[in-house]
Formats: sequence, structure tokens, C-alpha cells
Amino acid sequence: MSSLKGNILITGASRGIGCALVRALLKCDGVKRIFAGCRNPVHAYNLQEFESSNKLKLIKFSVQENESIDSVFDEIFNELNGEGLDMLINTAAIFEEVQTKEGYEMNIVYGMSKAALNNYTAVISKVYKDSNIMVISICPGPIYKDVTGSSLHPGISLDESAAEIINTITKLNIEDTGKFIDRFGTVIPF
Ligand SMILES: NC(=O)c1ccc[n+]([C@@H]2O[C@H](COP(=O)([O-])OP(=O)(O)OC[C@H]3O[C@@H](n4cnc5c(N)ncnc54)[C@H](OP(=O)(O)O)[C@@H]3O)[C@@H](O)[C@H]2O)c1
Repeated sequence: MSSLKGNILITGASRGIGCALVRALLKCDGVKRIFAGCRNPVHAYNLQEFESSNKLKLIKFSVQENESIDSVFDEIFNELNGEGLDMLINTAAIFEEVQTKEGYEMNIVYGMSKAALNNYTAVISKVYKDSNIMVISICPGPIYKDVTGSSLHPGISLDESAAEIINTITKLNIEDTGKFIDRFGTVIPF
């Protein structure tokens, strides 16, 4: 599967799209090591069966704790003997679809946070472009939860989304940096 290669860190890997991406990346021959960041690795039941492979390492990682972020990068640096990461995939998030006033208000906050994320992507992409580092926001599509959670709405499976995202990533180049795209690579205006 696909020509993705190197060492990859995925945040929010315990379930959802992060977990599906880990499983899909395990099948990519060129991928050397995958670091799956989970708040509680002992609860990452859908990944533990792959842990015996040298390719996957579950690491304790909360994106809200600066100390956790520092220690994770130290741990990865040591594991890779200084080789470094080739890709960071951030899927860590909290999202609940609630059909109440509270849910409505929360989804406004959710939408605002996504708009901020897309703007942040555009801003930091400019900082890193000269270093040939791409920064992209990708919408995984309308996923129904087939591994861990209840069904939100009709849609695609986590595995379909993960495969399409990986296929799209392999086709990107530095001129795409800063974009917000769907899982097929089409630019989404925001
Ligand atoms: N699913 C969809 O249909 C859909 C559609 C469009 C966009 N998205 C976006 O795709 C992203 C991932 O969505 P998803 O459906 O995969 O979500 P999910 O199934 O709810 O999984 C969220 C993941 O984030 C982790 N997480 C939450 N807070 C964290 C923290 N502080 N530090 C580290 N990890 C943390 C969770 O870990 P724990 O297991 O420890 O809670 C879990 O692994 C989100 O940004 C979402 O908005 C999803």
C-alpha cells in the first residue's frame, strides 16, 4: 500500500480516525516506525494486538499537557537514535454531536475551533515552507463509527477514510502546503 515512508507520530491514536490511520499505516511497507500517542495506552484495545511488531509503539501522550509533549519528543528522539520524525498527524480532539441547545452551542465552538485550526495551518505553513515541511488540514469525511463508538450518521467507515487520506497524502507536494482539503485532496474553502 502507498509510498508513504519514514517515522510517523499520530496523536489521538487510541480510537477513531487516529486508530484507523495507524492500522492503515502499518500496512505501508515504506513506513519504518509509528508512534501512536494515546492518553491511556492500556485502553487502546484496537492497537494492542499490533504492539508486538517493532513497527508500532504506543506512547502516553496528552496534547493538553506541555510536560507530556516534551517527554514524548524525548522518548521518540531516543527510540530513533536521533533519526527524527518524518510526519506528525494530529487527530486528537473532542467532539460530541448533541441535539440540544448545549450541543448546538458546543458545535458553534467546534466550528470556530476548526476555522482557527485552518487559519493556523495557513500561518505556520508559511513559516516552514522554506524548510520543505508541509502543513495540511484534512477533513476525514462523514464517518460512522465502526470500531469503537455508536453510529453518528450514515457515512463512510473509518478504514475507508484512513485509506483515502493516506492515498491523498502521497500525492501532495510542498506547493499544497497551507491548504484545507478533503480526503480526496480537493481544496475546501473556509
Ligand atoms: N468522525 C467524523 O465523522 C469527523 C468528521 C470531520 C472531522 N472530524 C475530525 O477528525 C478528528 C478526529 O475525530 P474522531 O472521529 O477520530 O474522534 P474520536 O473518535 O472522538 O477520537 C478522538 C481521539 O482524540 C483523543 N484525545 C482527546 N483529547 C485528547 C488529548 N487532550 N490528548 C491526546 N489525545 C486526546 C482521544 O483519546 P481518548 O481515547 O483518550 O479519549 C481519541 O483517541 C477531530 O478533529 C474531528 O473533529 C471527524
